[in-house]
Amino acid sequence: MGAAAIPLGVGFSIAQTGHTEPRLDRAIQRFQAQLSRKTGVPLVPLPENPTRVRLTIHTDHASEPVQRLGEDESYTLQVTDAGVTLSAPTPLGAMHGLQTLLQLVTISAPGFVVPEANIQDSPRFPWRGLMIDSSRHFIPLKVIERNLDGMEHVKLNVFHWHLSDNQGFRAESKRFPQLQEHGSDGLFYTQDEIRALIAYARDRGIRVVPEFDVPGHSTAWFVGYPELASGPGPYQIERRWGIFDPAVDPTSENSYRFLDVLFGEMAKLFPDQFFHVGGDEVNGKQWDANPKIQQYMREHGIKDNAALQAYFNKRLQPIVAKHGKTMIGWDEVLDPSLPKDITIQSWRGAESLAEAAKGGYRGLLSSGWYLDLGWSAARHYAVDPMGESSTSLTGEEQRRILGGEACMWMEYADDETVDSRIWPRNAAIAERLWSPREVRDTASMYRRLGLVSHDLEFLGLTHNSYYEPMLQRIAGPATPEQLTALRTLADVVEPVKNYDREKARTAEPTRFTPLTRIVDTVHLESDAGRLFSDAVDAYLGSSCRDANLAARLRTQLSAWSANDATFQTLAPQSSLAQEAAATSKDLSAIGQVGLEALSYLEKGQAAPPEFKQQTEVVQRATEPKGQLLLVPAPAVSRLVDAAASGGNCTAK
Ligand code: ACM
Repeated sequence: MGAAAIPLGVGFSIAQTGHTEPRLDRAIQRFQAQLSRKTGVPLVPLPENPTRVRLTIHTDHASEPVQRLGEDESYTLQVTDAGVTLSAPTPLGAMHGLQTLLQLVTISAPGFVVPEANIQDSPRFPWRGLMIDSSRHFIPLKVIERNLDGMEHVKLNVFHWHLSDNQGFRAESKRFPQLQEHGSDGLFYTQDEIRALIAYARDRGIRVVPEFDVPGHSTAWFVGYPELASGPGPYQIERRWGIFDPAVDPTSENSYRFLDVLFGEMAKLFPDQFFHVGGDEVNGKQWDANPKIQQYMREHGIKDNAALQAYFNKRLQPIVAKHGKTMIGWDEVLDPSLPKDITIQSWRGAESLAEAAKGGYRGLLSSGWYLDLGWSAARHYAVDPMGESSTSLTGEEQRRILGGEACMWMEYADDETVDSRIWPRNAAIAERLWSPREVRDTASMYRRLGLVSHDLEFLGLTHNSYYEPMLQRIAGPATPEQLTALRTLADVVEPVKNYDREKARTAEPTRFTPLTRIVDTVHLESDAGRLFSDAVDAYLGSSCRDANLAARLRTQLSAWSANDATFQTLAPQSSLAQEAAATSKDLSAIGQVGLEALSYLEKGQAAPPEFKQQTEVVQRATEPKGQLLLVPAPAVSRLVDAAASGGNCTAK
């Protein structure tokens, strides 16, 4: 703690100098409420209380009426015993500075303080986004709003709103009302709601880029407008997950007339410069099966479906441009015949980002940042838009890499769980996009991530608070001991990674499948599992001489070893708990084996040769069951290996 840490108490005055505007006033009010919530101290300026902290906010001039890519976001923040000074060229930077200040505030022995600081800050990349898929599971606006609050806190500045897909068309069109009337089950955002959300985002320094995905991922459009499709129909809203055949007919002039009117309407509704047209995962089956399309391709020398999609995009781009927008699409739209002012969002691999930049196109990275795949924060944190594929780029080509976006696809998340699927891991991605490339220490990242995670809860995100009610739902009328056993197990399991949930399924999931199972309840990254693994490594690295660490590991392993006896009394009472019965047995088995390994290691004694057979027990526990991964199993395996190799701790 710096010597100049300022105590925070009742009485907190804020003065503004230079330019101001209403959204900065609102940001300041919000900041005061957030700070009060974080500290529990009512930080209102009261005449009867002496002012203890003075925050002065200065901005030079107005920000752009519609937030622009590359607009100045910088700020400086100084905390000395004289007070806090925040200055920025525009309110946009000042708003970022307020969130930094909120993060700095911490408890200390004398109470809450603002630590001494001297920060000059600006982002590494101008495009730092989060995509949320509102189609597969519709998400109420209040859920999106609180995620925008989270984005503001970690200085993300683009909300990419995936508004249409096979499973739903979610934006109201007044020109083509059958899009939402037939394609959304009544679950769509009205234009007034969309305008309000855009204003909400702007208040938080966030641009809103809409995506209307064509020509594939568009079944929901065809329920109301089957004439747009390349196959005969009729169409129904898709309830399953996957890649489907329906696609817009790229050879019909009617398709372009329709898209011109619709995109014109949406271009007015969404003020941002960029307009996302999707373009991913067109399987071409409807095109292959349609003789009229095949004939058109022959007559126009279009040699295959990729060329047909390029033709479609070449027709689409001038439509988007006519409505004043810059077209952006997933990396499938990349084709050298397209004009250079389109932007590519790379999701299939970072190579396409470098390829786009070399070809003269601007690009964004999303490959490596799919939040729904369940990767650890560390793994996401290691991904960089200027990664290996980009090192060979010239300076000019590198400048075409605008940044990136985390993506939250909603097959396996709904409004109850979505925050937990995004946060806190998304904060690690946000830091990668904001901070210098050299800031890459994972241990430091996890320490800060824990703190940010708590701050996000105070902002109203539910990524931690969702957990107990979901455990309670699984446990039903359980005893406190049974609930504890369920929690002990759930704390150390994660869903299988990537798309393995698809592979291991027993029945085809749909939009109506409840997301209430243990696999839906557990965190995507187990803190308890990670901390145990770190403790095992620290213990083995200390020549197994650290008695405190040994005691910590023993406490943990003993609890796991005993857990299954109680869990098995719960399992027959709950279909949802039942699914984890095998994993629970595994947890107790690795607890037991881990305790044995630990006792050999503590005695410095070689385990008898037959102990090596325990490797198989642990190995079996590493295999997923019920779509669940038992996170501590590999760490226990390291303990067993060390014990079996004669107590050979690494640093001996
Ligand atoms: C995508 O994941 N299909 C963009």
